[in-house]
Amino acid sequence: MKEDSFESVDPQPRSRHNRSIKLTEDDRHRLRSRLLSFADKKSEPPIGTICGNCLVWVDRLPAKFVDLLILDPPYNLTKDFNQLRFSKRTVEEYTGWLEGAIAALKPLLKTTASVYICGDWFSSGSIFAAAANHFIVRNRITWEREKGRGAKANWKNASEDIWFCTVSDDYTFNVDAVKLRRKVLAPYRQEGVPKDWQSTKQGNFRDTHPSNFWTDITIPFWSMPENTSHPTQKSEKAIAKLILASSNPGDFVFDPFVGSGTSSVVAKKLGRHYLGIDQDEEFCLLAERRLELAETSTAIQGFVDGVFWERNTLAYQKGRREEG
Ligand SMILES: C[S@@+](CC[C@H](N)C(=O)[O-])C[C@H]1O[C@@H](n2cnc3c(N)ncnc32)[C@H](O)[C@@H]1O
Repeated sequence: MKEDSFESVDPQPRSRHNRSIKLTEDDRHRLRSRLLSFADKKSEPPIGTICGNCLVWVDRLPAKFVDLLILDPPYNLTKDFNQLRFSKRTVEEYTGWLEGAIAALKPLLKTTASVYICGDWFSSGSIFAAAANHFIVRNRITWEREKGRGAKANWKNASEDIWFCTVSDDYTFNVDAVKLRRKVLAPYRQEGVPKDWQSTKQGNFRDTHPSNFWTDITIPFWSMPENTSHPTQKSEKAIAKLILASSNPGDFVFDPFVGSGTSSVVAKKLGRHYLGIDQDEEFCLLAERRLELAETSTAIQGFVDGVFWERNTLAYQKGRREEG
């Protein structure tokens, strides 16, 4: 959750390097008219953002339209989401709440759909228990949060999980789309030829198979153009990996807890259809602002020329762009 990061603190006065997205009253007025609203059940899924309770809206959406479901629900801790406070509950209660949400959303999924569910270490047990009752649970990705609040009598929490599930054994997984480019520390050659790595003007690199342990994700902070005031915004790079691996261009990505819109924005940038729901209007308007910006910029920080780069390689990434 990004408020743990020093860098998410908005410096006063606003630094010229502060690129966070902020809404003006004019933006709110303009973007409000873009939010979706309809009374009757639709036969075709709408594309865009709905402001409301996703557990109410599921009944108005068509069956089996989703290729990829991304669930980033409130974790099992007390947290304010603008107007709404989500309160920490017992593990049993949280598991029951999550299971209810999954059961309600399941009819919307194609039989070939994939599902990712985000959580911290404490919510993870509930996620596994709830998801295993409905899906084939295939993996748990753990990603390193670069920053975390130190604890005096516990280990600092510096990781989060994303559970990977599918509805059936028939599912999409584009492994080549999500390889990670790493610097080669020991460049091994066979008969003078680089073994599984490339030599470029910027250095030696290897494209490695994506593992379930991610150390290349940066939580959005104030100097990143994707940053908003949402308290638990996910990085576009992390969501891009999920979308590229588990969907194809033209597929439908649905995020019923869309917050500041990250899943929809990345889906749009990568040529997928998208629907996002959030109960908070300000978050929905931020999502719409980001979708508006994505009409002119499809850049995803850390994903350059179709390649994911390990963290702290910006200079190499820039060099690559100049080289190309
Ligand atoms: C963990 S945040 C999602 C953050 C999002 N992934 C992003 O990148 O900005 C969870 C979101 O779920 C929303 N939410 C909670 N309960 C909801 C409900 N029943 N229906 C729709 N949205 C809900 C909250 O307002 C919050 O924005």
